[in-house]
Amino acid sequence: MKTLGRRTFIKGAAILSGATLCGAVNTQKAEASQQVELPPLPWGYAKLDPEELRKLGHLGYYAFECAGGAFWALVTALKETVGYPYTALAMPTKEEVIDYLKNKKKGGAHLPQAFMQYGVGGVGNYGTLCGAPNGAASLMNIAVPFKEVKKELIPRLLRYYETEGFPTDLSNQYAVNKEFYPPKYKSGKALPQVVGDSVLCHVSVGTWCEKSGYASGSKERSERCGRITGDIAAMTVKMLNASMDGNLATVFPMSLSQETAECRTCHSKGKEYETGQFTRGAMECGSCHDEDLIHKGENKLNTAYGVEIGTWAGAAVIGTAAGIGGHAVASRMNKEDNDEE
Ligand code: HEC
Ligand code: HEC
Repeated sequence: MKTLGRRTFIKGAAILSGATLCGAVNTQKAEASQQVELPPLPWGYAKLDPEELRKLGHLGYYAFECAGGAFWALVTALKETVGYPYTALAMPTKEEVIDYLKNKKKGGAHLPQAFMQYGVGGVGNYGTLCGAPNGAASLMNIAVPFKEVKKELIPRLLRYYETEGFPTDLSNQYAVNKEFYPPKYKSGKALPQVVGDSVLCHVSVGTWCEKSGYASGSKERSERCGRITGDIAAMTVKMLNASMDGNLATVFPMSLSQETAECRTCHSKGKEYETGQFTRGAMECGSCHDEDLIHKGENKLNTAYGVEIGTWAGAAVIGTAAGIGGHAVASRMNKEDNDEE
């Protein structure tokens, strides 16, 4: 297999087959054996600079949108600090992406298809999970042991996403000071900062558009998502750095909202159907369910055998009064994780 030179990579992309581009190429190994074999996961992590990642993530968005952009940024940085096997993943360099953006209007140059690009607009524009944490989580899963990724890193990153006002101050500042990498910004303004209260692209974008007055197809909305991609890449690196030092909680303490914690005392993944364990997940419950409207109707809960269970009058009230907090529930999440998926 012919190894793609860094310079010729973008030019060649248009004529090479997708299969060649997607195949991971490691120079020495490929030439020696004509066969590429990558080591098993995890591939490892070495500390990165969050602020460089905020800028790389933003640049990545301009090339590959949210999910592809976050993944590209993190791998691009790890190619420098860790090297192989990240270097075996075929993707354009930072300079090549900037060149591409400079010459985009003139035609000719193309960027190859990117890893995690499918995550755009909440997976294929379907509005589910925001692509930025999706792409970042995918990198976490390549870099560090899955147990840590599943229990500690991903829930924390998603909770950060739900609670942060995006774009962050730093992101807005980089745009205003022209410190971001793209040669021309979609918008150079400080953009309105909105807490989405949801990890869903649909809710996050919708909330932002409603509060900011910008349309979902506006340049400003797109720029906002670029800045979020940077913000998420930066937080990912902060968490991975802290995780290496064993002080993850100092970066972002994991705690669900009081309301969600209360709901989850009954509605979490478990075996006791009757008590409410017929759901799973930890998304902010109140972003969809109105606390005043639930548990009001007649109880139509059925068992697996189709038997009605009867009225659970006051069940929710008891749970709420117990006031079990976010920390208890966070540890409960870990317990759930030990069950079969
Ligand atoms: C993105 C929106 C959304 C979020 C966030 C969400 N839910 Fe739901 N939930 C729904 C929808 C839609 C349904 C199905 C219609 C219904 O029963 O309201 C549902 C159903 C349920 C049901 C009833 C199950 C059934 O089969 O009728 C429970 C219980 C529930 N959710 C609890 C929770 C809890 C607890 C949380 C927080 C950990 C939560 N939900 C977060 C949208 C959401
Ligand atoms: C004390 C346990 C308990 C707590 C706490 C609790 N639920 Fe429930 N919930 C149940 C049970 C049991 C059912 C099924 C029987 C019923 O409908 O009352 C249920 C039913 C539901 C349903 C479907 C039926 C309906 O009435 O809409 C939704 C949605 C729901 N819960 C959401 C929530 C949310 C959101 C919270 C947190 C604000 C919450 N629950 C807190 C036990 C609980």
